[in-house]
Amino acid sequence: MNVNHLRQKEAYNVAIVGATGAVGETLLNILEQRKFPIDTLKLYASKRSKGKQVTFKGTTYTIEELTEDSFEGIDIALFSAGGSQSKKYAPHAVKAGAIVVDNSSAFRLDPSVPLVVPEVNPEDIAWHSGIISNPNCTTIIMLVALKPLYDYSRIRQVFVSTYQSASGAGAQAMEELKQQVRSWASGDDISVKKFQHQLLFNVIPHIDTFQDNGYTGEEMKMFNETRKIMHDNEIRVSATCVRIPVLYSHSESVSVVTENEITPEKARELFANAQGLKVIDNPAEYQYPMPLDTQFGDDCHVGRIRKNIAEDNTLNFWISGDQIRKGAALNAVQIAERLIADMGAASNRFLSAS
Ligand code: A2P
Repeated sequence: MNVNHLRQKEAYNVAIVGATGAVGETLLNILEQRKFPIDTLKLYASKRSKGKQVTFKGTTYTIEELTEDSFEGIDIALFSAGGSQSKKYAPHAVKAGAIVVDNSSAFRLDPSVPLVVPEVNPEDIAWHSGIISNPNCTTIIMLVALKPLYDYSRIRQVFVSTYQSASGAGAQAMEELKQQVRSWASGDDISVKKFQHQLLFNVIPHIDTFQDNGYTGEEMKMFNETRKIMHDNEIRVSATCVRIPVLYSHSESVSVVTENEITPEKARELFANAQGLKVIDNPAEYQYPMPLDTQFGDDCHVGRIRKNIAEDNTLNFWISGDQIRKGAALNAVQIAERLIADMGAASNRFLSAS
């Protein structure tokens, strides 16, 4: 049973929480690009950003400090200010009547909260009770590719190593990598704050905190969130998540063990017909997915598709996608678009029944 319902309107009152962050800025960009029907737009961040100005569709908006009373009259609140802000403020948004699409991990595994990738499980949006969670970015990118395979043959296991860009750790982390480049070029000392180690000229096999089983939080998100989104509590995902000195777009090397064999030819066909994916798989011409080609784009690129020679019924592929767009902001806007489209469908059903 939904707590909050959207009323069908020409345009909606939208709030962005974390509007000054890497995802928040991209949310604005995508809402404008996709002509999301906005009536009132409210932009929130911390006290530090209060008074900053942002331009959206040619109009200047002022960033306001987020408070418990920020959601009066808001229909849709897009949260991207980290888990603790979501835990604290999302309930206030719901109480004020808004539907929250939350980018943080705060509610992802809560059984009363749908966890949605629109290309994979759009039907789950219908049972929200005020909050819908956006999955972890590496999980979204992987699942856009796993879904068409799964629809052809059940997936038993996934072995994945990720190559995650600096922007996944936020705007300040991206700035740290740029600063390390400048410091190195001018012969200055390289400073490290956001990452555990120098990222420039390095690869750091550590994202999120280590758990008792030796995996990190990010790696366990890929395990747990895949099960919830795919509605399959037997699928096993073993991930190694790695930070690399790239600014935008995450890449992943994926091996998928399926119940029935999926040949590379079949996989190419399945990927080519799937939403949100583009097959870039022509090694002879040096064409394969790369972060420089997927950054700032909406589609994930999939390639290096081949049969795994170490194990039967196992397919290997390489995928790259802009994790700020498809892995976060775009996915959230797609959920919001589905919410308002479902509104239209529901009221059309009502009209034709009455
Ligand atoms: P601010 O810029 O004022 O710190 P990123 O993940 O790219 O670092 O972005 C985090 C976003 O979350 C920013 O917009 C940041 O705002 C916002 N944020 C961080 N802490 C708070 C807070 N206590 N209240 C509201 N917004 C916050």
